[in-house]
Amino acid sequence: MKPELGVCYYPEHWPEAMWAKDAARMVETGLSWVRIGEFAWSRFEPTPGDLQFDWLDRAIEVLGKAGLKVVLGTPTATPPKWMVDKHPDMLAMDAQGHPRKFGSRRHYCFSHQGYVDECVRIARLMGTRYGRNPHIAAWQIDNEYGCHDTTLSYSRPALLAFRHWLSGQYETIDALNDAWGTVFWSMEYTSFDQIDLPNLTVTEPNPAHVLAFRRFSSDQVVAFNAAQVAALRPLTDAPLLHNYMGRVLEFDHFAVGADLDIATWDSYPIGFLSDRLEADETHKTAFLQQGDPDMQAFHHDLYRAVGHGRWWVMEQQPGPVNWAPFNPAPLPGMVRLWSLEAVAHGAEVVSYFRWRQAPFGQEQMHAGLLTPDDREAPGLAEARQTADELAALGDVAPARAQVALVFDYTSDWAWATQPQGAGFDYFRLVFSAYRALRRAGLSVDFISPGMHAADRYKLILAPGVAVLGDLEQKLVQSCDLAILGPRSGAITDNFQIPTSGRPGLHRLDCHVDLIETLPPNVSRVVKGGGNAEHWVERLSGNAPCLMSFADGSPALTGDQGLWYLAGFPDETLWDRIIVRAARETELDLHPMPAGLRRRETQSHEVLINYNADPVLWGGTQIDGCDVLFRPHACGDSQN
Ligand code: GAL
Repeated sequence: MKPELGVCYYPEHWPEAMWAKDAARMVETGLSWVRIGEFAWSRFEPTPGDLQFDWLDRAIEVLGKAGLKVVLGTPTATPPKWMVDKHPDMLAMDAQGHPRKFGSRRHYCFSHQGYVDECVRIARLMGTRYGRNPHIAAWQIDNEYGCHDTTLSYSRPALLAFRHWLSGQYETIDALNDAWGTVFWSMEYTSFDQIDLPNLTVTEPNPAHVLAFRRFSSDQVVAFNAAQVAALRPLTDAPLLHNYMGRVLEFDHFAVGADLDIATWDSYPIGFLSDRLEADETHKTAFLQQGDPDMQAFHHDLYRAVGHGRWWVMEQQPGPVNWAPFNPAPLPGMVRLWSLEAVAHGAEVVSYFRWRQAPFGQEQMHAGLLTPDDREAPGLAEARQTADELAALGDVAPARAQVALVFDYTSDWAWATQPQGAGFDYFRLVFSAYRALRRAGLSVDFISPGMHAADRYKLILAPGVAVLGDLEQKLVQSCDLAILGPRSGAITDNFQIPTSGRPGLHRLDCHVDLIETLPPNVSRVVKGGGNAEHWVERLSGNAPCLMSFADGSPALTGDQGLWYLAGFPDETLWDRIIVRAARETELDLHPMPAGLRRRETQSHEVLINYNADPVLWGGTQIDGCDVLFRPHACGDSQN
């Protein structure tokens, strides 16, 4: 596969006279893809039924003629004003019961059937008109599901759909009462029609009720996407995709991805570091203008799994964004670094957001590849350089990793429902494991809880997977060593503590005697080095103790291909666990200095230096903000 570059473009923002020059300049920069259309509903259909696609016909023609492949977006993330006037109850409701008003974007409730029908209608109209257009090489459905906190809606349509969903899940109200344990606090129901949404309760609602609502809300996103997929499929052979986000977990991306051909995501490394990562000030300062060295890679690897191996970066930060608390500029070299890093993780396309900075509207302070007055912004030269380097690099094929991490959206919903300790967060836990694997220089694959047992790895980590079910069996069959915990298998499907023992621990003949959570300044020392923080389980049982806490209770226990970790490890403890697991599974580690990361493709070892300064590693100097593709020695190819 030859990786390519692209850009997001809004022809409706610029005079038509500029389009041809823009297209020629994109091609001259080395871009081959252009995404358009995803917010243009008010221009496709200014009033109900008044279809105005002529301008889009011409835009596609101009871009396509210039040699660009077009990704056409369905405009359903931005319903126009007339739509909201026509369907006033289509607005999502927040948890306080307030409607989310017209005036920005994503102001719809996934459960509003009238709006779903409108989306299917516009998707079908577009598919009919452009499905066989030779310039349309992919379709993006909607834009960033869940962005701006829009997955959960407490509207009346959501309530009615939730009751219907529950009756499908449980069949009888007695089964629901039993599954949820509604005898607790006298909450037994006699009919599905009595069940409300779990907001505005006096104190914590029943956790099984909340988890059911979270599952339902995710299913609504899946169904919303599937409705447009069903409309477009018969009308086009081009691949269908969606652009996911960073650390947005409110819906099951694997389930949405199952209906699509390619996963894409929107990568804003500097914004993410400041607005959605737990890290100390030293780290945030060191990487202020580069982004966190693991955050982008984490999502590249995750979305490679969501896309069944096919994935892109649909929106790549090209300069300062407008939406984080502070918006510093990328250091010189970082736009190129982010792009090549994505390629090293298997991206087919890296597409910049956006072509020209808009002089109007909410994002007028968001950089593009061009300035609002049409001059080259600093990102453009790096995009051009990247294009030249990609042409010289040729084919890139991702290598199969020897290590995998399970990522499970349901676990995030469960642990957000009952965190038990403020520091226990599912993403944070999995990310800490990912960081540890990368500090050890390992390439990582993600696997979903619905994984096929046929996948074979040396090591699989499944920290914090709330409901294990038959996953435990599959994990054990799929690798030489599986490491569960902390909190893995701690609840049943209906959010109850499994009284017959936790699946993983049961196999090890171990029991949980007590669980404690800790404030940020307190941790539990593990003998030999490292600590458990946030969450600690006190275990008893017969499995061999591999590491123990200072009081002698097991911190890591296990046997025969299955280990269980009894706390949330700090960096030192994670590093010790990885070293020990590597010894057990004959895995080669490549310890990395801070800020330097390594990723293997079939042909190359890629070294990515997020530091501002040069780093010396394995006898090679890697400059600050630089990426180096080193060909594998002959006979050393990774498969
Ligand atoms: C993304 C979104 C784009 C634009 C961009 C700004 O979340 O898909 O439309 O808003 O952020 O960084």
